Amino acid sequence: MKSIFFLFILLQLIQYLNCQCIKNASQVDSNCYCNSEYYGNGANGGNCFPCPIGSFSQAPSKTNTNADISYCNQCKQNYYMISSSSTSPPQSATCSLCPNGSGTQDINAIVGIQQCNICQINFYMISQSTTNNAALCMPCIMGSGNDKIQNTVSGPQACTICQANYFMLQLSNSTASAQCTACPSGSGTKNTSNTVGNESTCNICQQNFYMKTASQSNKAAECITCPIGTGTQSIQDSVHDQSICNICLMDYYMITAASGSTAAKCTRCPVGSQNPSIPPITPPQNASSCSQCLRNYYMTKAADTSQAAQCTICPVGSGTSNFSSQAGDIAQCDTCLSNYYMQSPASPSNSAQCVQCPAFSFKSSSQLKGQQSQCFCYDQNAIPLNVINKCVCKNGYSGLVTAYLGGPSGCTQCKPGQVSQFGSQCQNCPPGSVISSDQGSCICNDQSKGTTPWDPLINSCHCQENYYGDPSKANIGDTNSCQPCPVGTFSKAGQAKKVSDCIAQISNSILNSKKLLFFASLLFFLVILI
Ligand SMILES: *[C@@H]1O[C@H](CO)[C@@H](O)[C@H](O)[C@H]1NC(C)=O
Ligand SMILES: *[C@@H]1O[C@H](CO)[C@@H](O)[C@H](O)[C@H]1NC(C)=O
Ligand SMILES: *[C@@H]1O[C@H](CO)[C@@H](O)[C@H](O)[C@H]1NC(C)=O
Ligand SMILES: *[C@@H]1O[C@H](CO)[C@@H](O)[C@H](O)[C@H]1NC(C)=O
Ligand SMILES: *[C@@H]1O[C@H](CO)[C@@H](O)[C@H](O)[C@H]1NC(C)=O
Ligand SMILES: *[C@@H]1O[C@H](CO)[C@@H](O)[C@H](O)[C@H]1NC(C)=O
Ligand SMILES: *[C@@H]1O[C@H](CO)[C@@H](O)[C@H](O)[C@H]1NC(C)=O
Repeated sequence: MKSIFFLFILLQLIQYLNCQCIKNASQVDSNCYCNSEYYGNGANGGNCFPCPIGSFSQAPSKTNTNADISYCNQCKQNYYMISSSSTSPPQSATCSLCPNGSGTQDINAIVGIQQCNICQINFYMISQSTTNNAALCMPCIMGSGNDKIQNTVSGPQACTICQANYFMLQLSNSTASAQCTACPSGSGTKNTSNTVGNESTCNICQQNFYMKTASQSNKAAECITCPIGTGTQSIQDSVHDQSICNICLMDYYMITAASGSTAAKCTRCPVGSQNPSIPPITPPQNASSCSQCLRNYYMTKAADTSQAAQCTICPVGSGTSNFSSQAGDIAQCDTCLSNYYMQSPASPSNSAQCVQCPAFSFKSSSQLKGQQSQCFCYDQNAIPLNVINKCVCKNGYSGLVTAYLGGPSGCTQCKPGQVSQFGSQCQNCPPGSVISSDQGSCICNDQSKGTTPWDPLINSCHCQENYYGDPSKANIGDTNSCQPCPVGTFSKAGQAKKVSDCIAQISNSILNSKKLLFFASLLFFLVILI
């Protein structure tokens, strides 16, 4: 009987364990799948790893299968795809936020900025997206806005509402947006408005203000800032005295509670530290309540009964992924801030090494410990930064990369048959060569001993120094276009076409030393003269 009971318990336990998926995974039909912003890797003990920024996996992988980062093959809403995912080597889709208020209506799996074909809420559309450009969107200005995405071209009249904390003077008409005015200091509205109002529409006080007088026929509520270091727990919609300022702001601790008609009394935490206490709290607190470090500070010493935590700012470019609550060392600085990429992760007693993204590139947000972080060139026609660590136009494209996020590409594709490398001018390949398939280089027909490889700056097929001949006349597969100059003679690269172009070495070096002597004495003479 007992053993049956134990078996029952055991079966229950197994079933229970089955139901428990690892973190960032969910159960579907008795299998665990990584959530859509994660990919699974059975080889690593069944973990779910976050997809790189903006990308996600539409076909979630079972946690026990070996799904690599190439499963992150889609871009989230309002991101467009710079390059698609690949399986060898495994790479996720590269996704970038749509520029300047443009966006996508849905997730997408197609490469190209033209996917950014709508304007987000509170923008209006000037022009539709085209092959190399996102839709051009302008923000609604002066507190006006709208309440849905815009997918047709319009003027500012598409901004028909006033945003929260503004009231409407005039409705939008055929050419102009709604005319909106900001509520006076500290007062506000709970919601957006789509009808004409007046100052009395501003009938609340924002957080950390208390209401002295309610709004009247044509007058906003009168809102007063809470005393230094104190605040309120929410917005206020009725008249109250200062005692509603009954909390301390995050980087203060409470000496005395609010009482009667007076606010709480709060003292500032030492630099870099903050107070994690959640109201209601029992005063008196002392500096020992400042037991956390602000984000991007690391903790060298924990708070004790009389002292606040000691917090030091992280080295340039690095930061913390959350508030530090425990003493540690500089290794708490384990993330890189936006526009910095991680050269090496934090290790015992070392912070993450963060390097600024190269010019004309960005990294959209801070990145967590261990995550491979990477910067992206603003220009979609640039060589990816994992190939070369600066933003230059890709092969076959000429020009300078765009200098701002969302700007039109500065790299123009060369005509068929023309070559460009690192944005150089488009040019035809020299005689004796063929063009590479990516229009990034020319390949000389004769590459045998004595020839020089093609170079975009020189753009010719010729012999290297101390060789003579003419590889520009070579056909594909030809060899020996260049022959060594006879013993005792020399040539500069590309200078000698015939054997007689090879010059006697001795005379030339004498010539050179004579020239040198002449200039040296001239210089000496001038120095003496001065
Ligand atoms: C992933 O899991 C971690 C740890 O459980 C959690 O903090 C985080 O919020 C999860 N992320 C998402 C997007 O659910
Ligand atoms: C996009 O935003 C950038 C930076 O805010 C700005 O310099 C640029 O002019 C904007 N582009 C357009 C087309 O408005
Ligand atoms: C539209 O509104 C603007 C500003 O409120 C005003 O200057 C303009 O005259 C109005 N136009 C029309 C056609 O009513
Ligand atoms: C704000 O207004 C919108 C539409 O006008 C409405 O759907 C929403 O419920 C309102 N929110 C509040 C908090 O009143
Ligand atoms: C201001 O708006 C309120 C509420 O809509 C209205 O009752 C009041 O009469 C208006 N005041 C003026 C001066 O128009
Ligand atoms: C500071 O406050 C803590 C509790 O919050 C208390 O244990 C400690 O004794 C206080 N220290 C002093 C010096 O009053
Ligand atoms: C940061 O820490 C707070 C409390 O210590 C916690 O509630 C929150 O989830 C943490 N955030 C992240 C992103 O880990």
